[in-house]
Amino acid sequence: MRVGIEAIAFHSVQHYIELADLAEARGIDPEKFTKGLGQVRMAVATPMEDTVTLAINAGLKALENFGIDYGDVGTLVVGTESGVDHSKPVAVYVHEALGLRSNCHTYETKHACFGAMAAVFSANDWISCGRADGSKALVIASDIARYPLGDRGEPTQGAGAVAMVISDTPNLLQFDSEINGHYTKHVMDFWRPLYSSKAFVNGHYSIECYLRALEGALADALDKATIPELYKLNQLQACVYHVPFSKMAAKAHHRHFEVDAGEKIDRESKRFEDVKKSFSEKTSPWLSLNRIVGNIYTGSLFLSLIDLLRKNTSAGLKQISMFSYGSGCAASMNIAYPTPGFERFKDKIDPEPELNARRRLRIDEYEEIMRISDSLGTGDTGEFRASEWGLTGDFLYLGNRNHIRRYSGLS
Ligand code: HMG
Repeated sequence: MRVGIEAIAFHSVQHYIELADLAEARGIDPEKFTKGLGQVRMAVATPMEDTVTLAINAGLKALENFGIDYGDVGTLVVGTESGVDHSKPVAVYVHEALGLRSNCHTYETKHACFGAMAAVFSANDWISCGRADGSKALVIASDIARYPLGDRGEPTQGAGAVAMVISDTPNLLQFDSEINGHYTKHVMDFWRPLYSSKAFVNGHYSIECYLRALEGALADALDKATIPELYKLNQLQACVYHVPFSKMAAKAHHRHFEVDAGEKIDRESKRFEDVKKSFSEKTSPWLSLNRIVGNIYTGSLFLSLIDLLRKNTSAGLKQISMFSYGSGCAASMNIAYPTPGFERFKDKIDPEPELNARRRLRIDEYEEIMRISDSLGTGDTGEFRASEWGLTGDFLYLGNRNHIRRYSGLS
């Protein structure tokens, strides 16, 4: 049975900052952010945009843009690490907003940035083993990445959601059913205690953990594969990675290349030119959306995948690798095959018009938004107004009353 992605959609928040502006405000050379981290802009969520509103809007787009019958959705999973409740899952709000059937299996998954990929694997298994009985799974990756103002992690924030319909009619991408490499290890590279709205991170160590996990997941994939040659870089037309910031994908591809070549390749060596060439062909072209959105945690890998699908034709794209990493940590490496003819959906999946319509914030406006978000606390709030934040559209967070989160468009 062929199982994979039938529909995909990205939903962005409505504001952003230029990282050059942030660098100037922090007294840092802008090239550290634009070249050193490879990031140009960063999405900024107002208090009225949360993981629920992002997930609902992304889910709606995926179903509407591809004309999928809502009654066909038999599983709904939201992968997130920035949920809004310790108990009630984001997925239930989405279920209500989309009016999905009551026997839809609905839940939330968490493992840092790996949460949505974990859900994709489960959806794949559910369909492959025949239990879906013709139904489809809606998997949504929705997150707002936050670090404290002035923190080293500050330029690697972002916000957004990617929704995917996984089914046995994969119009866009088909997963290899046999080869999935996995890796897990308890590490304290990045975490967010229950009492904190922002993540704690050991930044440089987190990069090391990511790269070790890549080696581990790739080794497992090679070990399980009946045809290990499938994982050779020369067999792959594209390699997509989890992208907390674009330079991380370059580091990941460098490590992938080293494992493939069976040797360490120093950045100063002549051989590094081959690494750079390979990166510029197989990974860099699909980072343009990540560069202007920032880290969206669970959705980052899939945002790069959208970029890949909107820029290619099936004539040139036969086989790709996908590497997912979630701090803490868990990782996977798998192979997928773009479905012949996927390019006919290009316009439906392209988020660039929406991203171009975002409003640019000054740094003092961005800081004010962050301070207000931080001051909301745990109690009731007044009612927020979309006009105050220059927001349009439905399904916005209106504030809390009697400890219940209220949303426009939801009773
Ligand atoms: P930092 O210490 O401020 O930056 O934090 P740096 O000093 O390491 O510099 C960054 C790069 O800029 C370096 O390049 C510098 O050389 C270069 P590299 O050597 O790495 O290639 N640089 C310059 N380039 C041009 N012009 C200049 C200049 N100055 C310096 N003037 C760090 C960087 C990423 C650590 C920080 O932003 C951070 O802590 N971010 C959050 C953690 C993170 O994103 N980790 C990634 C791996 S873990 C992961 O992906 C999981 C995650 O998504 C969470 C989850 O799973 O849920 C985070």
